[in-house]
Amino acid sequence: MTAAGFQSDPIAWYQHQVDATLPGLLDELLADVPSELAEPIRYAVLAPGKRIRPLLLMAAFKATGGEAENATRMACSVELVHAYSLVHDDLPCMDDDVLRRGRPTLHVVYGVPAAVLAGAAMMPLAVQAVGLASGPLGLSAEQSDHLVARLTAAAGGQGMVGGQLLDLRAEGRAVSPDELEQIHEGKTARLIAASAAMGAVAAGGSRKHVDRLERFGMRLGLAFQAIDDILDLRGTTDELGKVSGRDSVLQKATYPGVHGLPEAERLSRELVRAAEVELDGLPQPHDLRLIADWILARRH
Ligand code: IPE
Ligand code: IPE
Ligand code: MG
Ligand code: MG
Ligand code: MG
Repeated sequence: MTAAGFQSDPIAWYQHQVDATLPGLLDELLADVPSELAEPIRYAVLAPGKRIRPLLLMAAFKATGGEAENATRMACSVELVHAYSLVHDDLPCMDDDVLRRGRPTLHVVYGVPAAVLAGAAMMPLAVQAVGLASGPLGLSAEQSDHLVARLTAAAGGQGMVGGQLLDLRAEGRAVSPDELEQIHEGKTARLIAASAAMGAVAAGGSRKHVDRLERFGMRLGLAFQAIDDILDLRGTTDELGKVSGRDSVLQKATYPGVHGLPEAERLSRELVRAAEVELDGLPQPHDLRLIADWILARRH
């Protein structure tokens, strides 16, 4: 489908690009993977997600002078990391959730061992996806290595995995606003920041633009997790496609828990505004602003 067919809804166009590209990319990546692993991986990745992280990568690619469509395969790499993080996040030893993206969670369908192994297999697939996407974009080995370094740093112990550990360690006790920010930065904002920064790196953007997009993504990522916390409280299971109210059952550290609901809402608006300030001066920031506004207004 051409961009013209989606003129009134650019976000739907981006989502369509990602959803149309993921199945073929998975076919390539999973060619030599046993079907017992490939099937749950497809189940996790192809389930209907919002695709926020790949959208940000593509829109950041455009913001720094590229043609968004050309970054679609690169953008799928961050969705692979994200989908893996959800598989492990839902495990009985983590958040113990049974519904994700409106479907039974992976371990409910395939069992815990398959969920652990499929999740672990998805991280290297994400790195392979960066490699596959780099050639057609004309990136140098150095640029491709830079993208892998950003992706793996955001995903690992200093990023998402580290944040997930802090999240678990904070269950059932009071946390300060600073500690909450540290948890949310690690488990969610770092990957969102990497997605935006990777778009700029892939487009050959200047160091200044890459840094701006990284800061944009960190603030937007914090707002994103604050809104996820708010929706867990306010949304229904039907709207969210995941069981609502789990954060209070698990006594998680959340924005409404630490700041109260009205202040959590005010802070998420403020974070999105602060994120958008970073876009001033980029060549084509329009779509990133649309995505940021959508994240703030979202109901699921
Ligand atoms: C859920 O992420 C996990 C968090 C980091 C809050 P999303 O809300 O982006 O989930 P999908 O991809 O749309 O299912
Ligand atoms: C998940 O945060 C963060 C990661 C998956 C890294 P949550 O635990 O709040 O996400 P949901 O609410 O289960 O989607
Ligand atoms: Mg969690
Ligand atoms: Mg969870
Ligand atoms: Mg949540």
